[in-house]
Amino acid sequence: MTLFSYKVNEGYSACMKLFLDTANVDQVAEIAAWGTLDGVTTNPSLVAKEGKDFKDVILKMCELVSCVSAQVTATDFEGMKKQGEEYAKWHKNVVVKVPMTTEGLKAVSYFSKKGIKTNVTLVFSVSQAMLAAKAGATIISPFIGRLDDIAEDGMGLIAEIMAVWSQHNFATEVLVASTRHPRHIVDAAMLGAHIATIPYDVFKKLPNHNLTDIGLKKFQEDWEKVSKK
Ligand code: G3P
Repeated sequence: MTLFSYKVNEGYSACMKLFLDTANVDQVAEIAAWGTLDGVTTNPSLVAKEGKDFKDVILKMCELVSCVSAQVTATDFEGMKKQGEEYAKWHKNVVVKVPMTTEGLKAVSYFSKKGIKTNVTLVFSVSQAMLAAKAGATIISPFIGRLDDIAEDGMGLIAEIMAVWSQHNFATEVLVASTRHPRHIVDAAMLGAHIATIPYDVFKKLPNHNLTDIGLKKFQEDWEKVSKK
């Protein structure tokens, strides 16, 4: 039995959504075909890695899933506003991803009033999470792996955010980002997070279990013996 030190959410909400963290359309198509994919998150690093046209990538993904985060690259309010309004016109499934800065908060507040969905990225503290939610973010993205990388407790941050969310009426969904292994997804679900975004190589590990493979092999072998009789 795994010892779990965080307080597990006592209520329950709708099933935690699973997003793929990628800018690769083929990966989205592959995982979407399983029937278990709710959305996609992209960021400028992932888009740069693929080297494809940004708008084309986002539009193709919007045909595969109902929620696709497209990140602004401007860092000032006016620039974010211009980019975000353009992205939102591309497709109804676009969610404008905005960095957690004071300029970003202004942009989120503006987009919220215009009915444009937002995902506030690069969240590393509970105070940032609360400010983004109060500004009207649709989604916030705390980065847990990057906190673990600097010897802080990424999942502990999710536990604290979910504890605050359970005491107050924030409408904003908590998306666990920068996940690095399947256990992160299970822990996020146990804490009541609304969404986890998952890199392709981690998502591919989720359906696998050695005992499933061994069990299936045995079923097939036994069935072959019957059919030979
Ligand atoms: O997309 C945001 C986030 O998930 C990035 O993760 O692994 O670069 O810290 P990572």
